[in-house]
Amino acid sequence: MKDNTNINAEIRRIIGESSPLAYVRSFGCQLNVSDGEKIKGVLSSLGYGFTDSEQDADLIILNTCAVRESAEDRVFGIVGSMKKLKERKPGLMIGIAGCMTAQSRIAEKIKTSYPQVDFVVGTSAINALPELLLGALQGRGFSADITEYDDFSEAAVQVRESSFKASVPIMFGCNNFCTYCIVPYVRGRERSRRPEDIISEVRGLAADGYKEIMLLGQNVNSYGKDLGGDMSFPQLLRELNAIDGDFVIRFMSSHPKDASPELIDAIFDCEKVAKHLHLPVQSGSSEVLRRMNRNYTAEKYLGIVDEIRRRDPGFSLTTDIIVGFPNETDEEFAETLALIRRVGYDNIYSFIYSKRSGTKAAEIEDTTPEDVKSRRMRELLEVQREVSAEGYKRFLGKTLRVLADGESRKHPGYITGKSDEFIIVEFEGDASLIGRFVRVQVTETMNWAVKGKVILEDNL
Ligand code: SAH
Ligand code: SF4
Ligand code: F3S
Repeated sequence: MKDNTNINAEIRRIIGESSPLAYVRSFGCQLNVSDGEKIKGVLSSLGYGFTDSEQDADLIILNTCAVRESAEDRVFGIVGSMKKLKERKPGLMIGIAGCMTAQSRIAEKIKTSYPQVDFVVGTSAINALPELLLGALQGRGFSADITEYDDFSEAAVQVRESSFKASVPIMFGCNNFCTYCIVPYVRGRERSRRPEDIISEVRGLAADGYKEIMLLGQNVNSYGKDLGGDMSFPQLLRELNAIDGDFVIRFMSSHPKDASPELIDAIFDCEKVAKHLHLPVQSGSSEVLRRMNRNYTAEKYLGIVDEIRRRDPGFSLTTDIIVGFPNETDEEFAETLALIRRVGYDNIYSFIYSKRSGTKAAEIEDTTPEDVKSRRMRELLEVQREVSAEGYKRFLGKTLRVLADGESRKHPGYITGKSDEFIIVEFEGDASLIGRFVRVQVTETMNWAVKGKVILEDNL
């Protein structure tokens, strides 16, 4: 691992007693948010405090996402607008981190077109951050480090956003090369963290009173394969379940091609593991799934769903769908709608296909017009609204365990949280409940959530 002792000391000397403030903003998936917390950890150890306002910041780091073009456009828009900010405050330093930086054409574009940016730090180069920062503090001009270091640091302490919900990455990278997806190109191959490191981190979080542990990886079901296979993901779930404490274990994402009977057994056997599975299907058409290189068919996917529902008919499932994959036909899209109705998801994260240069799908000549894609998206959202509103009725009168998360923005006086089943639950209550488990009896269902009344507050 890079030894930053001298660099860190030099930064602290330059900063002195000035207590500078950093604004770190993460885009994209929860793995990236977790990296953002590590970036904050590095900055905190150097003497930086944090602010939620760009205006107040002495250092701005944008931790970017490259999964869709819209995500990249947004970042370029924000960086563009920071030119003025920097003119007003010349000492301001701006760094770009995250997945966009791993594409050389983007790193080049930042360097040539956005002189307000001081440095670019790659996804596995967080350890290089102090060196880049020092260069900027010393006014040495633009610098970048997008090397793929494989010593992604166990040492990097996170500054966590929440005091009761914690993300724990269990692996990095992806080997799957779904034809539409940029992630394997920007995040490299699968690397699993050592089980003992994960277990000791979760033990520490449980001891600190964290109530939700979210295990993260692009495909958690292939956890451990690169470590020799002594610890599979279902085994890891069992190990974590045995840790003392009152917390719920969640995980994302699960690739259907690797969702094994052992995984399903572990979910049902482990009382701390949430009774919810996010199982991204992407499309209901086996032919589209083949073109996406997903390595399962709609029938195989439905087989997994049926096995779960055989054991618990009300089990909650959520998914990701891509609408308008190149040359998706009306019939193929209809198969997606049919699958959504058949599975009865509680929630769907749906995206219009975005062409990512460098991926296999980007080479396909796409004849589907954009307005057809938008119409399909509207249809899908309509079907999903119906399906989830209907599905939520199964909770009426039931009591759910809910981790109170914050005050409802839509309904003043209400607290919102997520049930173990990952359903949004709103209930009357005050802010003192936030960060605690409560039992809520469901009295009403809405399109996107359920409402209820608190019947018991846990751990009083
Ligand atoms: N590893 C996860 C997904 C990570 S990306 C998995 O395989 O489930 C999150 C979601 O973004 C994907 O599930 C997919 O639905 C969507 N996505 C990825 N690339 C996309 C693209 N090029 N266009 C539109 N959506 C995309
Ligand atoms: Fe992308 Fe597929 Fe890997 Fe998920 S499994 S990150 S969709 S390549
Ligand atoms: Fe985006 Fe990178 Fe995550 S591309 S979705 S932030 S792994």
